[in-house]
Amino acid sequence: MTTGREIMRETTRDFQRYYNPKLSGEVRLDTNTNVLGSNPAAARYLSETTWDLEGYPNTYSDGLRSALAELYGLETDNIIAGNGSDELLDVTFKTFINWGDDCVVPVPSYTLYDYFVRCNGGTVKESDLTEDFQLDVDDIVSKGGKIAIMPSPNNPTGNCFRRKDIEEVLSRFDGIVVVDEAYTEYADESFVRRVEEFDNLVVLRTFSKAYAMAALRVGYAVTNRKLSDMMMCIKIPDSLNKVSEGAAIAAVKDQDFIKSSVDMVREQRPKLAEGLRKLGFETFPSDSNFILARSPIDHEALVSGLKSKGVLIRDFGSKRRTENCVRTTVGTQELNSLLLEKAAEVIDECR
Ligand SMILES: Cc1ncc(COP(=O)(O)O)c(C=O)c1O
Repeated sequence: MTTGREIMRETTRDFQRYYNPKLSGEVRLDTNTNVLGSNPAAARYLSETTWDLEGYPNTYSDGLRSALAELYGLETDNIIAGNGSDELLDVTFKTFINWGDDCVVPVPSYTLYDYFVRCNGGTVKESDLTEDFQLDVDDIVSKGGKIAIMPSPNNPTGNCFRRKDIEEVLSRFDGIVVVDEAYTEYADESFVRRVEEFDNLVVLRTFSKAYAMAALRVGYAVTNRKLSDMMMCIKIPDSLNKVSEGAAIAAVKDQDFIKSSVDMVREQRPKLAEGLRKLGFETFPSDSNFILARSPIDHEALVSGLKSKGVLIRDFGSKRRTENCVRTTVGTQELNSLLLEKAAEVIDECR
């Protein structure tokens, strides 16, 4: 038997491992998680609960689905819970695409869309965002396909897409439209409560960002009851573990932490952007807890220089449309000062 890469499935043979930096105690501003630390309600729940580990969790995480349904004024059956919103991305593509179906993916957007489409046998049709990183609705509609996906706010650019553009895609695109709202708490814009209005809308949400629970891997999809039934039939049963489900239910009931996390980001975001601009960065408008910025020096030198000084940010500088750009999470005032101070040092050393 051959042991080379030709043993892999032909269409995904070129895949490389995902981002997994070697860490030595750096401050992490590279993953857009909540810089205020663990979700307090979830942490309290975990420390106060005695676990009964021998039994499976509820097959479809009914407890979490009903807590979320109550939060949004929806039915439990509008919601599908899983192991991070990445699992729900996978379930969405797995449920709806046939081998070779086209899926429209904006450029630039979340790196893993390409991975999930191709792992599930689909073909990516790239649709470039406009100059100001908005959707090109005519292009998406004319490309066509089984699924069109869009993160709003968009990662890595940070901005929300215009509501009317998303509505136009929903009405004109002849296929499923996935709106990935991983960062929506920071933006106050959501389609979650509107899923029964559309026959083709799937909204994805996560507990990894504003909810400060990335370690527990909890995400969910919200859609009309016809589509959600199809997705439930395809999702791996029991994929969300009992411990994470319980912690997520506790977190849903404590909305104060989410509000204070969002307030902190909204206060710090313009100050960080201003600080970056003073160092010579070009910053792009953000509705989320991170900022995309074009570096005044070579992007690789900046990111590796910052890493050696104990601060990790994410490099997007080699990708089309984000040439020489980096992305940083918005930190607390202290973290942002540290980032700006270390960035100033790296820039000085490189000049
Ligand atoms: C736009 C977007 N969607 C989905 C995800 C995945 O989130 P989760 O941790 O819920 O799998 C991320 C994570 O960075 C993201 O940026």
